[in-house]
Amino acid sequence: MSTGLYSLSFDAKLRILRFQLLAMRSMYRDSEFRMKPGSYKLRRLSVAPMMDWTDRHCRVFHRHITRHTWLYTEMVTTGALIYGDVARHLDYSDEEHPVALQLGGSEPVDLAKAAKLGEQWGYDEINLNCGCPSERVQKGAFGACLMAEPQLVADCVKAMRDAVDIDVTVKHRIGIDSVESYDFVRDFVGTIAAAGCKTFIVHARNAILKGLSPKENREVPPLKYDYAYRLKKDFPDIEIIINGGIRTLAEIDEHLRHLDGVMLGREAYHNPYLMAEFDARYFGDEAPVRSRSEILEAMIPYVRKVLADAAGGKPGPKLNSITRHMLGLMNGLPGARIFRQMLSDPARLAAADPELLHEACAAMPRRAA
Ligand SMILES: Cc1cc2nc3c(=O)[nH]c(=O)nc-3n(C[C@H](O)[C@H](O)[C@H](O)COP(=O)(O)O)c2cc1C
Repeated sequence: MSTGLYSLSFDAKLRILRFQLLAMRSMYRDSEFRMKPGSYKLRRLSVAPMMDWTDRHCRVFHRHITRHTWLYTEMVTTGALIYGDVARHLDYSDEEHPVALQLGGSEPVDLAKAAKLGEQWGYDEINLNCGCPSERVQKGAFGACLMAEPQLVADCVKAMRDAVDIDVTVKHRIGIDSVESYDFVRDFVGTIAAAGCKTFIVHARNAILKGLSPKENREVPPLKYDYAYRLKKDFPDIEIIINGGIRTLAEIDEHLRHLDGVMLGREAYHNPYLMAEFDARYFGDEAPVRSRSEILEAMIPYVRKVLADAAGGKPGPKLNSITRHMLGLMNGLPGARIFRQMLSDPARLAAADPELLHEACAAMPRRAA
């Protein structure tokens, strides 16, 4: 074998060496990213469900920034799906995959029906909201107040799992009101894991059900990332994803040393270009990182299509309902303000011309654009 190698030309040896390097790289990638087939690594990075923010236009925009990051819908209540306009709540664009539907509800039968609809619509995951502290949601007896009833959540999860073949996951807090003990969230996760849930998204702070607004509930209760780390130690076979206050690649790297995935909410929304690095850095994708202007370019056909549907008589959104999610794209660059101003200028938006995206980009100082 070695004598054979000596007799090869320099070019042939180089080709073999390159082949071996590629094989080693793919072995590395298989072990790093596809070690456990199924759910693991798919949700390594995700964008949080956010009411009024992560609608379908926002998700398409995020998808043009990152191919692999897992996306979540806004919360949709079981009532809205069972008694309301299903298409209005569930329609999305094919390019959004992988995309998860977040449900709000607490009746196992209703949740099973809603989950089934989500699966039929083609969603990749059903997520149950056990973290929202708003008064409205509490009146419906779901969201964060469900953390006080782990057995009910387990019943809900079981009913949904029986109804669908896609993953059923739970997003929750680490405690409610004055409950500070780690045992509370450990028992919550343990009870629901026993019903077959394999993925938990842990917003690592308490929900205060009385006295704090939803916004304050995302800022005031202290973050306790160590609770999520302990969950991973106590439930090593369960996928644990951390959420809450994470803003930089360095923070993401640190969490991924302990946990299976990281979910970003506000930072992904306000500073979306942070996600341009995700595919290469966390999913091993070798495609070149898209520039901001390429992302704008990629959005134009989508904007055109949405506006054309609206013009064609279908009930459709205005340009603003797409551009409002894009205002943060140039954050950190000189001229970002000009970009934001142009994309939110009522007169320009009224013209409903997708070329506005080009114009806003062109209006920035040349170096930045
Ligand atoms: C405007 C807004 C709306 C939100 N709506 C939802 C929701 O529908 N469902 C949910 O589980 N969490 C919701 N959240 C909470 C986020 O999913 C996330 O848990 C929270 O913002 C903490 O993550 P972050 O610090 O990365 O933003 C919302 C957050 C914001 C800012």
